[in-house]
Amino acid sequence: MGNELTIERMQTLNFRQSQLDSPIYKGGNPISLLVEKFGLDPEAINKLGSNENPLPTPDSVKKAIAQATHELNRYPPTSAELSEQLAAYIGRDLVADNFVIGNGGCEVLDLIAKSFVDPGDEAIICRPTFPIYDLTLRRLGANVVYADMNDDFTYNVERILAAVTDKTRLLYMTTPNNPTGTILTKAEQDELISRLPKHVLIVADEVYWQFNTDESMADSLRYVQEDANIVILHSFSKLFGLAGLRMGYAIGPERIISYLKRGQLPFHMNAVSIAAGMAAVADRDQIEETISMTLTERPKLTAGLAAIDGIEVVPSQANFVLIKPEKDSKEVEEALQSQGVIVRDLTNFYMPGYLRVSVGQPHENEALLDALTKIIAS
Ligand SMILES: Cc1ncc(COP(=O)(O)O)c(C=O)c1O
Repeated sequence: MGNELTIERMQTLNFRQSQLDSPIYKGGNPISLLVEKFGLDPEAINKLGSNENPLPTPDSVKKAIAQATHELNRYPPTSAELSEQLAAYIGRDLVADNFVIGNGGCEVLDLIAKSFVDPGDEAIICRPTFPIYDLTLRRLGANVVYADMNDDFTYNVERILAAVTDKTRLLYMTTPNNPTGTILTKAEQDELISRLPKHVLIVADEVYWQFNTDESMADSLRYVQEDANIVILHSFSKLFGLAGLRMGYAIGPERIISYLKRGQLPFHMNAVSIAAGMAAVADRDQIEETISMTLTERPKLTAGLAAIDGIEVVPSQANFVLIKPEKDSKEVEEALQSQGVIVRDLTNFYMPGYLRVSVGQPHENEALLDALTKIIAS
């Protein structure tokens, strides 16, 4: 009897329709999949599908993690010291109160969406771009409005402004953009900000910012300094090489950051992550090495890809390159996997027919170019 009552109560759970309708996110393929499927040696697999830092975790970070494990009986420190360190790293007169830290850029994106969007509100996304915006918004019951990029993957400012209504809460501007590697320019950003109504918050997703070399790229930090309605997203998963620990942060005017912090749980960052994050920001040698390797390898990889007949290449300002093979992209992805190279098919990034390849270490990029040349020629 009591049992029946329990089952009845469970069956009448009030599932939110918008969450029921949300897909479960599928990330890039892991190394273990290729080991299982093709019997490959994990050491010989080149993982170029998730835009990670390909260099091994430096000793400085491993040491900091080991140290942090000595006091796991205690609650973690706040992330105030890490925020101060980030403010010093980025400069531009920022202070710790301009930063809010979360468990990965994705969590920070979720925090921003939850903090500003109610069911029925609108948010603007410029496809093709990072699919997590859509995901975090739709499950809150938001209406996602698309102001797609131009055919050459530049932003279309007039299209974006035409999409704004009284219900628009958020506008996502990603630069360099994932998966295109293209940028929002200063001129486009100035135009947008001068014409955007005051009830719209720009989410400037700039997790690949350290890999940009184009001086015309938008300057979102200037608008943070000017107290505009903007919040910038950065990640520890890319240059800082901590994708496995899940850390990211937002930079914004203090009034926006202190509001976002009210939406976080107490002690939500663990002690190990905070220690590793501080060590990663302090390790300027590792930072320099990653940037210089990426900026040396990116043009070589781009040229190598462009030299393959039957591959279209989009020049990139990030740590990955977008390509369109004449052959079926899913078949190319599968054939590369069978040869130990993981790349990303972009069907879930609104780009069926395209692939995204991360810039890896020199030997990984060579392995990719060799395998791809053979696959395209076959
Ligand atoms: C554009 C963009 N934003 C945000 C993220 C989130 O990064 P993470 O959650 O690993 O910090 C990614 C990760 O690939 C990304 O490409």
